[in-house]
Amino acid sequence: MAFFFVALTTPHAWAAPDAIAGKDKAQLCAACHGENGVSSIPGTPHLAAQPPLSVFYQLLQFRDQRRKGGGMEAIAATLSEQDMRDIAAHYAAQPAPPAHTGGDAQKLTRGQQIAQQQYCSSCHGAQLQGQKHVPRLSGQSTEYFITQLRNLRSGARADMDGTMASAARSLTDEEIEAMATYARSLP
Ligand code: HEC
Ligand code: HEC
Repeated sequence: MAFFFVALTTPHAWAAPDAIAGKDKAQLCAACHGENGVSSIPGTPHLAAQPPLSVFYQLLQFRDQRRKGGGMEAIAATLSEQDMRDIAAHYAAQPAPPAHTGGDAQKLTRGQQIAQQQYCSSCHGAQLQGQKHVPRLSGQSTEYFITQLRNLRSGARADMDGTMASAARSLTDEEIEAMATYARSLP
């Protein structure tokens, strides 16, 4: 994995990511991820305002079959790495998904407490907005959040370096639901 990060941070021959080209290339993603990266299908993630490195990295994971789900392996296999970078730049430039503050206030407060106790923000950012290769969680669909966190906990979804798996290991289903409610409430 060290090699991977070196490869990402060392200047290379590829062209700079092009968000305008990315918008065009993202046409085939809109049916599921929404016109501007805000999906209306439960369980399908919002991509709007995701850190570009996170989207790029997840597409590589799908392409290489290290992550599976939603038919994304086949879709990612059709993209070049330049396509992935352009698309990632496009989604990063979109307005964040709307925050949902409605719902169970008790769950929300509980979620906030757990997020603080478990240091989720040390990687995902103070507002869980994501950074570098770490995905944005704020505003994310609760169905998607819950499924992914359970899969990361069980190992059904392998993560890049095991840090997320160990962060998830001790979480109960109830705690995961509370954190999903909290994350969705953040702008
Ligand atoms: C047929 C519906 C569909 C289409 C079309 C589609 N996706 Fe997806 N995508 C999904 C689903 C469902 C998931 C969640 C997969 C899972 O459960 O792990 C997903 C996950 C992702 C993720 C992971 C997000 C995260 O937060 O980890 C990225 C990135 C992504 N898709 C990018 C794209 C791009 C780029 C395109 C177009 C080139 C695209 N998708 C087309 C359904 C789709
Ligand atoms: C040590 C850094 C770190 C900590 C601490 C951490 N995460 Fe993560 N998280 C990551 C990384 C990196 C990923 C991407 C994993 C991958 O696919 O390789 C991730 C992925 C996720 C995902 C999947 C998001 C998506 O778009 O697919 C969820 C949900 C999540 N984390 C929730 C949490 C919660 C809740 C906490 C606190 C209990 C937490 N994380 C703590 C680094 C961290």
